[in-house]
Amino acid sequence: MPAVSPIVEFQSVAKRYGDGPLILDAINLQANPGDFISLIGPSGCGKSTLLRLIAGLNPVSGGSIRIAGRSPEEASAELAFVFQEPTLLPWLTVAANVDLPQKLRGLAAVERTAATEKALALVKLDGKQRAYPRQLSGGQKMRVSIARALTLNPKILLLDEPFGALDEMTREHLNEELLTIRAQQAWTAFFVTHSVAEAVFLSNRILVMSANPGRIAHDITVDLPTERTNDTRLTRPYQEQVAEVSRLLRSVEET
Ligand SMILES: Nc1ncnc2c1ncn2[C@@H]1O[C@H](COP(=O)(O)OP(=O)(O)OP(=O)(O)O)[C@@H](O)[C@H]1O
Ligand SMILES: [Mg+2]
Repeated sequence: MPAVSPIVEFQSVAKRYGDGPLILDAINLQANPGDFISLIGPSGCGKSTLLRLIAGLNPVSGGSIRIAGRSPEEASAELAFVFQEPTLLPWLTVAANVDLPQKLRGLAAVERTAATEKALALVKLDGKQRAYPRQLSGGQKMRVSIARALTLNPKILLLDEPFGALDEMTREHLNEELLTIRAQQAWTAFFVTHSVAEAVFLSNRILVMSANPGRIAHDITVDLPTERTNDTRLTRPYQEQVAEVSRLLRSVEET
């Protein structure tokens, strides 16, 4: 018996859309509770597809996915998704946007208000409850989107290039905040990014994917202390890890 049972398990997973080409093939993967796993790979290799399979938004075409022993559909209440675009409703305030998924899940108003307040405090947006999305910066909108996901108290957080549209300073700042939040909430993360630096900073594991069909080409354990701060980026082990992952990514992109 392994010491911990995996929270997410892929067995020989394949995916095609309709009768189109094979998008993902032979994906075997075991994620442990508390893992922060980044997915990186060429555009079109199937990273977003892989997240959508975990979320049960699309069915697999072959093999199986189990989430704590259940199917993705059965486990959907344990999951929250953060998309690349903040996808906020412009006619609702920040608080109402954060409230909405909880409302859709039928949670009681008192509970919802408490969870919304807590999540907005976690992303440092208390005070913006009554603002509208148009009154926020890009980074603030993304914080709202993360807060909205956190109110669902997910066991698994799926993030699809959440910081891709932000400038580097804002992105680095949000990376640090994401880890601070994670220290307080024990979710398992799957994080898609095109930034090697971001992947190394956030993750304990990085999956480098190759394309046509998408496969896991390299499964890298990030050998850095769990505690990461702005200074981590200046350390030699961090920079060596970034160089190594960049090299593996280039080798995948050249084939
Ligand atoms: N709903 C769909 N129907 C048909 N084909 C799709 C669908 N969604 C994605 N695909 C195809 O699947 C492949 C993988 O797409 P996916 O969005 O998963 O890639 P990705 O790795 O996330 O790329 P990017 O880095 O550009 O976001 C692409 O060839 C895409 O055209
Ligand atoms: Mg994508």
